[in-house]
Amino acid sequence: MKPSSASVSGASEITTSGSVNCRLILPLKESCTSAPRGDFSGAEEVFATALSQEEAVTAAIHDLYRLADKLGDRASIPFLLDFISEQTEEEAMVSAIVDRLALADGQSGALFILDHELGAREGDPGV
Ligand SMILES: [Fe+2]
Repeated sequence: MKPSSASVSGASEITTSGSVNCRLILPLKESCTSAPRGDFSGAEEVFATALSQEEAVTAAIHDLYRLADKLGDRASIPFLLDFISEQTEEEAMVSAIVDRLALADGQSGALFILDHELGAREGDPGV
């Protein structure tokens, strides 16, 4: 079979021969190999950063979806749709926390309640 290729927004190129030139994942890979950041000014900055990262992950998955669609990779599309749904939920959850932190405006009572609610969540302890 003659190899073909597709790219999405100039972000990545994957050929049907199995060759992958995936600039799409490089920013994520670089962030995974560096030390985690630990110099946040407070909870507001932590969750604003988390929201930004969730948005970046969502954008990367959308790029993969467009690429799968462009390549006619029907098997990957439902797989990626599950991740898109998950990311939509995660962005909404983190965005709600960012909004509540803004409303709390550093007041200890409000932060105590928010901390208690977040600590009582079931399931994945990560955000
Ligand atoms: Fe996520």
